[in-house]
Amino acid sequence: MVIGEGSADRSTQPFEGRSILVTGASSGLGAAAVRRFAAGGGRVLAASRDQVALAEVAASCADLPGEVRFGPLDVSSPADCKAAVAAAVEAYGRLDVLVNNAGRHDFRMTTEVTEEQWSRDIAVNLGGAFFLAQAAIPHLLESSGNIVNVASVAGVIGEAYSAAYTAAKHGVVGLTKALAIEYLKTPVRVNCVCPGGMDTPQAHTIEVPDGADWDLIMRVSAQRGFMTADDVAAVIAFLASDDAKAVHGSIQLVDAGHTAG
Ligand SMILES: NC(=O)c1ccc[n+]([C@@H]2O[C@H](COP(=O)([O-])OP(=O)(O)OC[C@H]3O[C@@H](n4cnc5c(N)ncnc54)[C@H](O)[C@@H]3O)[C@@H](O)[C@H]2O)c1
Repeated sequence: MVIGEGSADRSTQPFEGRSILVTGASSGLGAAAVRRFAAGGGRVLAASRDQVALAEVAASCADLPGEVRFGPLDVSSPADCKAAVAAAVEAYGRLDVLVNNAGRHDFRMTTEVTEEQWSRDIAVNLGGAFFLAQAAIPHLLESSGNIVNVASVAGVIGEAYSAAYTAAKHGVVGLTKALAIEYLKTPVRVNCVCPGGMDTPQAHTIEVPDGADWDLIMRVSAQRGFMTADDVAAVIAFLASDDAKAVHGSIQLVDAGHTAG
């Protein structure tokens, strides 16, 4: 679905001519990133499971200079990850940026986590980022492109009742570093943002398990209040842009001081 096409001015449209795949683009940070890239003249494939919500995100970009198409993706499926990269390349003839944003966070007592829940949390929050990167890298080598992974403050500190999420997000940080070293001698860049609390559906749908210790829950509360999704999307757009051409293997905290000490 083509929503809008615009003209070129590299100074105001840093993503003009660039093809960008954003996962988990149907709400929150992913949707904000789609709008940032479209505002910068980018050609975006917005991918997620909810096609109705994706259509609304694409429609919200109608007045922007870029182009937004959308399509299905369940990041827990390696086949879907491969297909989403192929769809972006087919849509725009190239791939310049992959934003691994899709994620889910459920609070659960560790002793009550089922095998299925553990596997799903790891597959969605970590496996998808790997399989998308694996499929994207050959195209990024051609375009001298880059990957921006979305981890969390839970990628650098522990969060109570979130063992699988925290392990997966630490894994996303490790994945970023591993790829940064493996592709050190190429032009491909790989970076990671670690957001703190953002005002998105994820933050509002969290259910705390019965018997949880609120003292431990409040350790991860946002002391300066929630950031907006666009606050974090701005940093994703910077990392994906040529302005960040010297930034590679960076784990960028965007947490309003949450982990400062
Ligand atoms: N909201 C916060 O406070 C916060 C803090 C730190 C990190 N994060 C991370 O930021 C990212 C975006 O989260 P958000 O806050 O915008 O939440 P959100 O719930 O609004 O967005 C999550 C997106 O991921 C998608 N998604 C979930 N499972 C998927 C799957 N299996 N396949 C494809 N897409 C899937 C959802 O459909 C949605 O589009 C996530 O990786 C999340 O872990 C969020």
